Parts: sequence; structure tokens; C-alpha cells
Amino acid sequence: MTFTSVGLPALEDLAPIDQAEHARMCSRIVRVLQEEGGYMDFERFMELVLYEPELGFYQRETGQFGDEGSFTTAPEMGPLFARCLAQPCRQVLDEVGGVVLEVGAGRGTLACDLLLALQSAGALPDEYLILERSAALRRRQSALLDTLDEPLRGRVRWVNEAPEMRGIVIANEVLDALPVQRFEVFADDVRPLGVTLDGGSFQWRTGPSDRDLTAWYEELRGSLFELLPVGYRSERCRQLASTMARFCGPLERGVVLFVDYGYTRATYYHPQRTDGTLMCHFKHRAHSDPFVFAGLQDVTASVDFTAVARVGEQLGMTVAGYTSQTWFLLGCGLQAVLASLRAGEFTRQAQVAKKLLMPGEMGERVHALALARGFEQPLEAFALRDRSGRLASD
Ligand SMILES: C[S@@+](CC[C@H](N)C(=O)[O-])C[C@H]1O[C@@H](n2cnc3c(N)ncnc32)[C@H](O)[C@@H]1O
Repeated sequence: MTFTSVGLPALEDLAPIDQAEHARMCSRIVRVLQEEGGYMDFERFMELVLYEPELGFYQRETGQFGDEGSFTTAPEMGPLFARCLAQPCRQVLDEVGGVVLEVGAGRGTLACDLLLALQSAGALPDEYLILERSAALRRRQSALLDTLDEPLRGRVRWVNEAPEMRGIVIANEVLDALPVQRFEVFADDVRPLGVTLDGGSFQWRTGPSDRDLTAWYEELRGSLFELLPVGYRSERCRQLASTMARFCGPLERGVVLFVDYGYTRATYYHPQRTDGTLMCHFKHRAHSDPFVFAGLQDVTASVDFTAVARVGEQLGMTVAGYTSQTWFLLGCGLQAVLASLRAGEFTRQAQVAKKLLMPGEMGERVHALALARGFEQPLEAFALRDRSGRLASD
């Protein structure tokens, strides 16, 4: 996602429909708070504001992607990203055949552009499956994919569960949209941070000790070189393992490719990152307050790629590559893709390439990680610079 970090508008200045939907979302949260004794874990809050049917940010009919939305993801910037991703798809499909499964397909732009790129390369999958949590986004995807010709549209199918399959699974900016638990470090304890209602607005509140969090934190401390200071706040994703199991488990042979904002564990839980990685995006403005614009804004936390690699290994997969988006896209042949474009398109996509590659933009903040099962070939996309070794020790 790209965004700018400037002042936020006042709620009263929003469109009446946005104000009304925000009010309904807040009433829903307040009702849950009342049912749960005035306190809820932040993970529950994030679940509600992102995925509550009809009210959550990703369950709304509009307002997420592109100029009229809150953020722009790599596939939404033009076909360059999809044409790069066609390279690992081709390599995996050439070797194992089968399907592409896209998890969390947003408004369907990557699916459209990737199918067109694979058609040009003569490497279409048997099917293009989409596993999407949001009913509203499934409708948007379907409307966009209906614009494709039948030979392509006929390959697309939505699934509620990943079937047993061979091929490649793609998840771009999906793991960073999973609800996370937030915590704070105390002198002799670690406690969850949750949400309460105070003076008519949502506020942070420290929750009761949680044995599962404490055990997880003890393990984390053992793997870090430096102690985390008192007052340190960060996040952990408890839904990572169950979410990954849904599409890594059924993959008999092939590769799962994650591209997301995130870092290795040591960088993620660096002692200087004292307020974690939680970010909110509202109409292309980034800020750190998840309690404003509930339901109208995105709330996201970066991905601990060491945790992703470990879950993959527990699911019987091996890490087949980990690198920054810059080196990943260059490894996918971005320069050759650019060189193949006509003059007008080249100029536009060269600007996109800058955003995707520049270290201060997405280049070093987004990483790609591939997990493989029954696929032994080195992935060309990671041939230029593979940092897998850092997942364990960095
Ligand atoms: C930040 S958007 C990224 C969309 C798209 N991949 C892109 O790059 O434009 C996150 C997407 O993941 C979907 N999503 C989140 N959790 C999911 C889950 N557990 N299973 C399937 N889709 C999920 C959201 O509904 C949304 O489509």
C-alpha cells in the first residue's frame, strides 16, 4: 500500500453515508463491549472493524482500494506487478501443472492482469481459484473478472475452502490484514492491550494476564539478542497458523508465495520499535489511531516472516526463498517486463516501478517469502538475493 502521512479530516466533514455507517459500526462495538463486561481484546476489536458483516472495512461495497479508497496495493498501480508474478507462476506450473489459488483477491485486479499475462506467456493454469473472506469483495471481483473473455473467465472459480491441489498459491497483502493481539511489556510481566469505552470514545486498556501470551513472550525473549524495555508495545498474530493451514495444508505439490509488509522476527521486535507496527489508512492518509473512523479505515499490522516460515515448516513445507520486494521483483524479470512495454505505457509503469522498488517506498518494507512442498527447483524469483538465512538468526 502507498499513502501519505498528513492530517485527518473531521468526522463531521465526511459524507453522510460514511457518518451513518461509522455510527452503526460504533454501536455494534459498544454492544459487544457491554456483552463482554466493558473490555475486549484488541484482536476482537480489529476483527469487528475489518470483517463484521456489512459494517467492517473489508465488508463494505466501496472505500478500500485505489484513488477513491484508502490505499493502493501493488496490483492496483498497473499491470507491472502481475506481469512480474507471472514468472514464478510459470515456473511452478511448468513443473507441477495445476492451478493458481489467490487468497484475499481485493477487487480482483491481480487476478485479471495475471490471467492476461499467463495467457500471453502460453502458461494458463487449469483453473484460477479465489479464496476471499469478504462477500462484498467477492462481488467486486466477479464484476471485474466478467470483463474478461470466456477462455479466461471460464477458468475462474471462487472457493470457500482450498481444495487438495497442485500449483501455486498467491497471497499479496493478506497476512497484514489479519487481526492481531496487542501487548505491553511490564517489569515482571507481559499483558494484553485491549479496548474499553471511556468518556464516549474507545481507549486502550491493559487486560488481565494471559498464560498463552506469557508463554509466547518467554519464547520470544529467548530468541532475541536484547531485552525489550518496559512499556514496549507490539503485536502478535494468533490467527496466522490457522489461516495458513487453510491453504498450505491442501497443497500437495507446489509453492505458496506471500508478499507483504513485514520483517524477520529480530527486526520486527527490535527494542527501538517501541510502539509496534500497527497502522491505519484512511483515504490515503496513514496514522496510528485504530479508534477513529471505525469501519471506514484499514487497520493493519506488519508480518513476522520468521513466524510464517515456522508455521510453514510445521505444515511440512520448506522455505524456498525470502527477500525484499526490490530483489524479488528484479528476480521476476521486472526490467525485461518494462522493456517489453510500448512508449506511453513504459513511462507510466516506470513510475510504478520506482514505488515498488525504492527502499523508502515499498522496496525494503515489503518482503516476499515462498514455501514449497514437493518442488525442489530453486525459484528464479529469489535467485538474485535470497535472505532466507536471516529468518532464523537476523
Ligand atoms: C489488503 S487487501 C489486499 C487485496 C489484494 N491482494 C491486493 O493486493 O490488492 C486484503 C485482502 O485479503 C482478504 N482477506 C483477509 N483475510 C482473509 C482470509 N482469512 N481469507 C481470505 N481472504 C482474506 C480481504 O478481504 C482482502 O481482499
